[in-house]
Amino acid sequence: MSPDDRAAPGGEALSARTAVVWSVLHAELARRPQAQLSIVDIGGGTGGFAVPLAQLGHAVTVVDPSPDALATLDRRARTSQVSDRIHAVQGDTDTLVDLVAADSADLVLCHSLLEVVDDPELTLRLAAAVLRGGGALSVLVANRAAAVLSRALGGHFADAERALVDPDGRWGDGDGSTRRFDSARLVTMLETVGLAVQLVHGVRVVADLVPGAVADGAGESLVGVELALAAVAPYRDIATQLHVLARKA
Ligand SMILES: C[S@@+](CC[C@H](N)C(=O)[O-])C[C@H]1O[C@@H](n2cnc3c(N)ncnc32)[C@H](O)[C@@H]1O
Repeated sequence: MSPDDRAAPGGEALSARTAVVWSVLHAELARRPQAQLSIVDIGGGTGGFAVPLAQLGHAVTVVDPSPDALATLDRRARTSQVSDRIHAVQGDTDTLVDLVAADSADLVLCHSLLEVVDDPELTLRLAAAVLRGGGALSVLVANRAAAVLSRALGGHFADAERALVDPDGRWGDGDGSTRRFDSARLVTMLETVGLAVQLVHGVRVVADLVPGAVADGAGESLVGVELALAAVAPYRDIATQLHVLARKA
């Protein structure tokens, strides 16, 4: 791993929550180091990924239906002096092809969005449509296995069994999440929409298991173990989130 893999775009230390995702995004950007890439962040919200990517010099379009999120994005972009490289579009993924030109994006982010949309496969199909040939889709989703373990470790054994078999990985009526994924389901959906899966990583393998005070004080050593475990079974498979990079032919 290069020192750059341990730094966020602004040069600050990476957080254990996002280090694995950034390491993949950095590698993707490094395929064309001199180019200003065209990036679309669907459900990009307040710009947690979009603003750092714009700070790296790329042109980022954020599509999100929430006016509040887009107002925060606008403030963050101005504070970071990247407003000229962020294009905010208020809209729904269902109309993505009316908002972003087909075959135009080098990189599409779909982070923590498939859990909340009406039709995850349609969202992936539309995301694939706006990618240009050779472009990549970065997908981050909640992992069913983490919810099963979390409920069981909390002593909620019936919930754990329900999350294991529920089609959407939900543990019951009190579950605040709409949907969780297994890596097999996600990979199948991506292949169904015509994308080739390049990698599947686990995000937050241990960061959410250790006590908060331990995690807060761990700094780079926790980032290091997250990066080391991300691609390695069985650790990857119990992470809180799954991150997949898939490419358009
Ligand atoms: C959990 S946040 C994730 C934000 C960002 N992608 C991230 O990873 O930090 C989910 C975002 O998806 C947006 N969203 C919800 N439904 C959507 C839809 N149908 N189309 C596009 N965005 C949607 C929400 O407004 C919210 O900003």
